[in-house]
Amino acid sequence: MLIDPYPLARPWLMVMEPEVAHALSIRGLKTGLVRNPSKYDDPILATDVLGIRFANPIGSAAGFDKDGEVPNAVFGLGFGFAEVGTVTPRPQAGNPKPRIFRLPTERGVINRLGFNSGGMAAVSRNLKRKKATRPVGINVGANRDSTDRIADYVVCIQELGPHADYLAVNISSPNTPGLRALQSRDALQELIARVLAARDGLERRPPLLVKVAPDLTERDVTDIADIALTSGLDGLIVGNTTVSRPDGLLGESATEDGGLSGRPLFALSTRILADFFAATGGKIPLIGTGGISSGTDAYAKIRAGASLIQLYTALFYEGPGLVPRMKRELAHLLRRDGFGSVAEAVGTAGR
Ligand SMILES: Cc1cc2nc3c(=O)[nH]c(=O)nc-3n(C[C@H](O)[C@H](O)[C@H](O)COP(=O)(O)O)c2cc1C
Repeated sequence: MLIDPYPLARPWLMVMEPEVAHALSIRGLKTGLVRNPSKYDDPILATDVLGIRFANPIGSAAGFDKDGEVPNAVFGLGFGFAEVGTVTPRPQAGNPKPRIFRLPTERGVINRLGFNSGGMAAVSRNLKRKKATRPVGINVGANRDSTDRIADYVVCIQELGPHADYLAVNISSPNTPGLRALQSRDALQELIARVLAARDGLERRPPLLVKVAPDLTERDVTDIADIALTSGLDGLIVGNTTVSRPDGLLGESATEDGGLSGRPLFALSTRILADFFAATGGKIPLIGTGGISSGTDAYAKIRAGASLIQLYTALFYEGPGLVPRMKRELAHLLRRDGFGSVAEAVGTAGR
């Protein structure tokens, strides 16, 4: 019988510097010490999205396994898919430490990592060696000192595309100055044309999605949705961390610079997700991300328009029992409301 060491380790992990705790968790996953015995996927959770079969719709969000070191161990936690990255062309260290801050009262995190990455060659090697057993998305970005950011996305797609079940173009990190400007209409049009051309040059053409910020105006949402639909983009990930700060955040870390994630992001990111679902008319799949920490949250994202969902911050607080618990809750909620599948529930909140 496997003994779950997390309840014993949790108090120590919580007082550790967050980045050290994360590094230890990745090491635990690598060695097989951190895992969960319950990998069961209720058949009601199986879903086909982007031409890919997912055993369940819950994925690990970008940032958790940036360098693709532990995809199969991530699946051992119960996830149906993993998003590796953000990967930059050349290795880079990111911003000075400390750069991850806990907001324990609100179960949030503020980070300003700034794309610390082992670089695309290392990630490519890691993924080749690991032979992932479930779908892996690869999230790509630009080096901080790059003079042609779009060229950085292109070269990452060429190098990493062959290992990806889907590609995610991250233009929404708040921690690389100027990156979010790529979300404006003209810049986005040029970006999407060039990254889709790079993807189309690959032998096996994985679906390509763009990951957006939750800090968008109504006009931005309409523009991005319009470009996504007319350009042939395969989907959107909604979204990244927020630079906004909801009223009433507590603790000395609440004023740190960076992107806020976790529970305080749930309402904002779910509202923007619903706006994107309305603006795209459900014609392309959306991956809902932001503040999910229970099956109820996952269900709310699906009903707001997400075909798949992802999480990261809740793992900081809940540990490896989280995903199996969420899967049980989500399966129960779908059945309670008479849905026969995840797909049947997508976007039903707005009807
Ligand atoms: C420590 C940390 C690092 C992250 N790194 C990345 C990243 O490299 N690329 C990216 O697209 N998103 C990154 N994110 C954002 C997450 O992928 C996700 O979009 C966001 O945290 C909202 O989900 P959550 O509330 O479940 O954490 C990071 C988030 C955290 C907390």
